[in-house]
Amino acid sequence: MKNPIKFLPHSPRRLLALDWRILLLILFPLTFLIYLSLSSTTSVSGFKSIFANTHNPIPPAHPPRIAVCLVGGARRFELTGPSIVERILRVYGNSDLFLHSPLDSNAYKLSLLKEAPRIAAVKIFVPGTIPVTEAQSRVLTAQNSPNGVQGLLQYFNLVEGCLAMIKEHQEKNNFTYDWIIRTRVDGYWSAPLGPENFVPGQYLVPPGSSYGGLNDRFGLGDFNTSVVALSRLSLVPQLDSAGLTQLNSERAFKAQLVTQKVQYTTKPLPFCVVTDRRYAFPPARFGVPVASLSSPGPLSGAKCRPCRPACSGSCVGPIMNGLAKWWSWTEWANNTLELCDAHDEWENKWEELFDNVAGFNLTSMRKNVWALEMDQCVNWFEEMRRRTAQWIAPQAREICGLGLRPK
Ligand SMILES: *[C@@H]1O[C@H](CO)[C@@H](O)[C@H](O)[C@H]1NC(C)=O
Ligand SMILES: *[C@@H]1O[C@H](CO)[C@@H](O)[C@H](O)[C@H]1NC(C)=O
Ligand SMILES: *[C@@H]1O[C@H](CO)[C@@H](O)[C@H](O)[C@H]1NC(C)=O
Ligand SMILES: *[C@@H]1O[C@H](CO)[C@@H](O)[C@H](O)[C@H]1NC(C)=O
Repeated sequence: MKNPIKFLPHSPRRLLALDWRILLLILFPLTFLIYLSLSSTTSVSGFKSIFANTHNPIPPAHPPRIAVCLVGGARRFELTGPSIVERILRVYGNSDLFLHSPLDSNAYKLSLLKEAPRIAAVKIFVPGTIPVTEAQSRVLTAQNSPNGVQGLLQYFNLVEGCLAMIKEHQEKNNFTYDWIIRTRVDGYWSAPLGPENFVPGQYLVPPGSSYGGLNDRFGLGDFNTSVVALSRLSLVPQLDSAGLTQLNSERAFKAQLVTQKVQYTTKPLPFCVVTDRRYAFPPARFGVPVASLSSPGPLSGAKCRPCRPACSGSCVGPIMNGLAKWWSWTEWANNTLELCDAHDEWENKWEELFDNVAGFNLTSMRKNVWALEMDQCVNWFEEMRRRTAQWIAPQAREICGLGLRPK
């Protein structure tokens, strides 16, 4: 029954094994000591310097300089602005904000950017019609753009104008930004923009919502790649020379990077574009899915609104699989996406739905904007202006007066 080997502790084999173990116990530290004493200090430092070169490159003389380019109209900025402040600007507290926005009855909401840690330049302008050049009328299409080619040019002008503001600030201060983050005034950030999205030599965009080209609702790159990505008007002649025609915004954007040989990469990003527009539900093959703002995400810039989801869980797959992957499709796997029925206007009590997902800080900033009165609005803008190097905007009283009644 008993294992004979177990009961032969004094067998010669066993003793031999024990001896070897004892010998090793003695030998190992000994050989290690010999190795240490023999190995010269140069080989140790050589190892160190290789390590430094491959894993720990010489840090730049300064912390990375980051410009945040924020463009677009302020329609629902009381919802999106606080998320941008908390999840981008405060995450990169040394970043400089560049704001480029049209003047309208919602522009007063931009005064909440007094909460931004740093502001370099603000330009709030009265939008005018941009004359369409021949090259632009060949290269661009009015299709799927709510305001036709003019709408595209307005958007391109916002983006490229922001780059001009950044370049001017750089020249005045004799430095170059290491990174430019381009994001939209109507973007709602559900989580912080992470450091993994800073990729040297490659322009980073979100996946999905690519409409035949590249998702152009957010972009992040080093200075050189950003110059190409943000030159949306001035690169049109190059697209024209390349013989490209009838491009929508996303196709023009992709063509811009490809013709200028800028590499790009995609990573999921925790934001959605808040929209008041109505869309048929469920979306057809070329329809637009509208995400609930409460979706776990990342939504990578898909359209969204606060809603009680009309479709979540197992309902989402069949609808999203019906969308053209190269058009309005967005990633939905792992229950990241919940869909709204967006065929009508925002539902009653959407504020409560928003507050429930946004949390305390964002809710209180939203309420502050809603409670804003003329004098306080003017004060907020004045507070911003004092901290801003370049300020090109109408009088605070005028901006505030377009949206708020004087008491
Ligand atoms: C700008 O910066 C560079 C390098 O940092 C320096 O050599 C140069 O003198 C500066 N120019 C001005 C006008 O300050
Ligand atoms: C950026 O472009 C400039 C001018 O074209 C070039 O000198 C520089 O090396 C580039 N920098 C990087 C990081 O690629
Ligand atoms: C979904 O989750 C699985 C398991 O965690 C992961 O391997 C996969 O990459 C995820 N898919 C997407 C699209 O995020
Ligand atoms: C809320 O705001 C306070 C004050 O600005 C800040 O310290 C805190 O980190 C914020 N909370 C979150 C969750 O970001």
